[in-house]
Amino acid sequence: MQQDKLTVPAIVEMKRKGEKITSLTAYDALFAKLLDQAGVDVILVGDSCAMVFQGEETTLPFTMEEAIYHSRVVRRGVQRALLVADMPFMSYQVSTAEAMHNAGLFFKKALVDAVKIEGGRREVETIAKIVAAGMPVMGHLGLTPQSIRAFGTYSVQARSEAAANDLLLDAQALQDAGVFAVVLEKIPEALAKKVTEALDIPTIGIGAGVHCDGQVLVAHDALGLFTDFKPKFVRRYAELAETVVAAVQNYCRDVKAATFPSSDESYR
Ligand code: KIV
Repeated sequence: MQQDKLTVPAIVEMKRKGEKITSLTAYDALFAKLLDQAGVDVILVGDSCAMVFQGEETTLPFTMEEAIYHSRVVRRGVQRALLVADMPFMSYQVSTAEAMHNAGLFFKKALVDAVKIEGGRREVETIAKIVAAGMPVMGHLGLTPQSIRAFGTYSVQARSEAAANDLLLDAQALQDAGVFAVVLEKIPEALAKKVTEALDIPTIGIGAGVHCDGQVLVAHDALGLFTDFKPKFVRRYAELAETVVAAVQNYCRDVKAATFPSSDESYR
């Protein structure tokens, strides 16, 4: 039986009840349907789509048009999970008016439940306006991949005491601005625990340890489909790339040997 559709208040309530939140990325309807059937709570149309699906080196080239397209197709596969879409690089930084317009496009054209925005205090004015217009926002702190050119590397963030204090202030500012949850990416687990204890809203960790209120992974990493590199925080629950390559090799072998199709697979 199909469980009730998850809402933003239901996700926030999970923290109060001490129930861990599960989240994975999806970029297409087929995968979204499988994740939804498996019971994932939050499906994220991440801008990691640029790297995993489009083969780009960073998330920076991902456009509004592409983000809306992927969010629309994912929407068709999701019934129960909360659907969150990443706002692409430079779709919300130029001005609050442009950010609100672009956020609105996700809700109007792709029927998402929420958008995700990277950044802390520098984004709170914009985030507060988007939230006030009735559009839920998820925050994202720590290693925010849209700032890769400023960071220089994808290394662990907020290791120093000053940077950790900064991140804590950012998290509190995001909560005050009205975000309903915040992703903590690649930060020390002790800091993620501190942030999680300090906030009333859920923290969703990726490379941030077990104390977060939930966990998110790129589905293609967790399923062993994306194998170009494997960060330490990724646990592979399947080795689907190997399965796909072996299956395709078998198909090629059968076609070359004229053992596919058989007479049972042919029409008379
Ligand atoms: O783009 C993405 O996939 C993300 C998550 C992994 C948090 O932002």
